[in-house]
Amino acid sequence: MNVLGIETSCDECSAAVVRDGHEILSNVIATQIELHKPYEGVVPELASRLHTEWIEQVVQAAIAKASLSVREIDAIAVTSRPGLLGSLMVGLNFAKGMAATLDVPFITIDHIRAHLYASQIEQPLQYPYLGLLVSGGHTVICKVNGYDDVDVMGTTIDDAIGEAFDKVAKHYGLGYPGGVVIDRLSKSGNPTAFLFPGNTMDEDHPYDISYSGLKSAVINQLDKFWDGKSEKSNENIAASFQRQAVGMLVRRVRRALKDTGMKRLSAGGGVAANSLLRAELKEFEKDGITVTFPSLKLCTDNGAMVAGLAWRYLKDGCRDDFTVGPSARVNAFKKQYD
Ligand code: KG4
Ligand code: ZN
Repeated sequence: MNVLGIETSCDECSAAVVRDGHEILSNVIATQIELHKPYEGVVPELASRLHTEWIEQVVQAAIAKASLSVREIDAIAVTSRPGLLGSLMVGLNFAKGMAATLDVPFITIDHIRAHLYASQIEQPLQYPYLGLLVSGGHTVICKVNGYDDVDVMGTTIDDAIGEAFDKVAKHYGLGYPGGVVIDRLSKSGNPTAFLFPGNTMDEDHPYDISYSGLKSAVINQLDKFWDGKSEKSNENIAASFQRQAVGMLVRRVRRALKDTGMKRLSAGGGVAANSLLRAELKEFEKDGITVTFPSLKLCTDNGAMVAGLAWRYLKDGCRDDFTVGPSARVNAFKKQYD
């Protein structure tokens, strides 16, 4: 089954064709990053306008790169939630029009579940597993019992981890999006030049996490945490921030693995591309945990994760009708199809 997956929830205009859930025939990602750069963040009106201009070409390119004709597309999947409403609407309406014209099954996909599923496309992992979703909008530790069944154990109580990376980078004028730049600068920085505070684990909610304190310390109180001798360079700030941001998260994941006794772990979302996070999570393999991540291209927003997850739903007979609208809210944590 050739599934076309469309993703327009934020600033990536993407379409992919995935065959039988695992064979990625194409995954075209037209990023708007350069066009949002002058504003150092995503401008929703601009994002939806660009999606409107690009979507047709992106979908055509995905079908062409898959070496298929449009009549060989067997089903159409599209992200419908959560995300920027205007952006979601562009992909959703395009997908509905195409599915109606081709008369093929249509299904809407939750962006959060798609990120958590992405690694399954390349490296199938047996359920249940401990899931870590780290993106610009979410930080979630959860039990993934099945592709449509996610139990949240803990989340951020304020900023998402990706947001903290982006805000720190914006404050120091490092560039946008911040995660990638901080990851790169950190490689030549001293991670103990600043000993930024992490937040202590709350025994009542051990898997919850807060990033606003760390973010404020890095932005407003640099001198307070300086070791007094290292250079106050961007590289040292980046490496010290990244060490703590990743360390706080890894401590919670360790605790969740211990408490649940789970032996499998998978991470997803844009921040799962972070090299330090990947290296530290891999360390759990020494304790007998199987650890998987999506390849870098499947970490950030992409159509392949939408098409991959859609295949699982479609195989189980799930379909949507054309009345489904976009939603800014997260409902990934309720079972969708009972
Ligand atoms: O999943 P994603 O593409 O979009 C959302 O659903 O939010 O994630 C985007 C986030 C941004 O905050 C970006 O700075 C972060 O992922 N990111 C990274 C890295 N690459 C992207 N953060 C840390 N290290 C990276 N290498
Ligand atoms: Zn995302």
